[in-house]
Amino acid sequence: MSKITYFDKREIHRHRIAADIAEKPAARTVAGAVSARRRSCARQGGGMNRLDHLRAALAALDRAHLRRVRRDNEQPCSPRVLIGGKACIAFCSNDYLGLAGEPRLAEALAEGARRWGAGAGASHLVSGHYTVQRDLEQRLAAFTGRERALVFPAGFMANCGIVPALAGRGDAIFADRLNHASLIDGMLLSRAGAHRYPHLDLAALERLLAASEAPTKLIVSDAVFSMDGDVAPLRELMALARRFDAWLLIDDAHGFGVLGPRGRGALAEAGLPGNEAESWRLIQVGTLSKAAGVAGAFVAGAEEVIEWLMQKTRTYIFTTGSPPALAHALLASLDLIAAGDARRAHLARLIDRLASGLAQKRWRLLPSRTPIQPLIVGDNAAALALAATLMDEGLWVPAIRPPTVPAGSARLRISLSAAHTLDEVDRLAETLNRLEDTL
Ligand SMILES: Cc1ncc(COP(=O)(O)O)c(C=O)c1O
Repeated sequence: MSKITYFDKREIHRHRIAADIAEKPAARTVAGAVSARRRSCARQGGGMNRLDHLRAALAALDRAHLRRVRRDNEQPCSPRVLIGGKACIAFCSNDYLGLAGEPRLAEALAEGARRWGAGAGASHLVSGHYTVQRDLEQRLAAFTGRERALVFPAGFMANCGIVPALAGRGDAIFADRLNHASLIDGMLLSRAGAHRYPHLDLAALERLLAASEAPTKLIVSDAVFSMDGDVAPLRELMALARRFDAWLLIDDAHGFGVLGPRGRGALAEAGLPGNEAESWRLIQVGTLSKAAGVAGAFVAGAEEVIEWLMQKTRTYIFTTGSPPALAHALLASLDLIAAGDARRAHLARLIDRLASGLAQKRWRLLPSRTPIQPLIVGDNAAALALAATLMDEGLWVPAIRPPTVPAGSARLRISLSAAHTLDEVDRLAETLNRLEDTL
């Protein structure tokens, strides 16, 4: 059995607490649930071994409707999927431009593999860095209008490593409460003081910054929030970073390829960095696994900042470089993104169509102008039941529950892709409208 990490334990603990709260009306608060669990563990004494504890924790996940399952898709990534032989329309992926299954990218990947082989052989700083990866970094820097970029094997690894490379013990990190798990875990790894401000609450952020005497301050935010679809006030965050002498790390995982001129992302849409004074404060992350349709991530910014990150980011240094063939495919993906205005225009039509098609009596569509369109249901079991009914109807929309989203805000995360048709979106809206009346 693989080793259980600190983070696994934390996750299991969170689930146990959530399960206890769901299960025992007396344990309505987290503190109550924690002490109830301590008492019950003490009662159980040494009778349970570590495996029994895991079994009990898994059963608790089931009771709280928090167990996650995977579905094995029999088709390449596209809105048209085949699950256990059943054809469905999927509204789940982050493949916003429909590039993941694009034949030209598959061909580029095959061509890349023929040219570069399968693997990198070592970490980038040892011998696993290739000219095609250098070219990709240069293209990403030019595309985002930054001095330099550094490519990572995954967005999670980028965020988890970059945050601790920028701030450490004695420093202070200021993070939106709804930031992605990778930014949260990076913050915990850094050992810096963690200050989480209410979602998008700039006044709260300003108060926290004003009260901080930390030598290094780092503001961290998603650009497009992954489970809510709304966009952070990027210009205002930049102004606060300047005023309080802070770094600003923006994760544009869900805006890159989708927003801004030629899909250059949420920052470009906000005119950042543009001619902004002290643009070196702004460090941007983008993923290459979502709209770009392949895999990986990049960080872009000022030359010295990226050099520092290359020297100090442990998740960059201590891992094998990603296969160079991916960089070859990603160069083709950047071409498709830059030339993708028609895909983005179609996506915008789909977003409008969904919003105008949904009647929304019981469930609430969050205000979002991005392809992430969350429908708030509230209760975990109700969100799961709705997702299961949709699946029976041949519509695959994931139910997102805590801890991914705050308790009581379980939702369907509807995500749209330029590969959807208007008819498919109509079918989803009509089905949801009917279920609101009948379920
Ligand atoms: C906001 C955000 N950042 C980072 C990541 C991680 O990116 P990757 O899937 O490339 O690891 C995700 C993934 O869903 C995300 O939503």
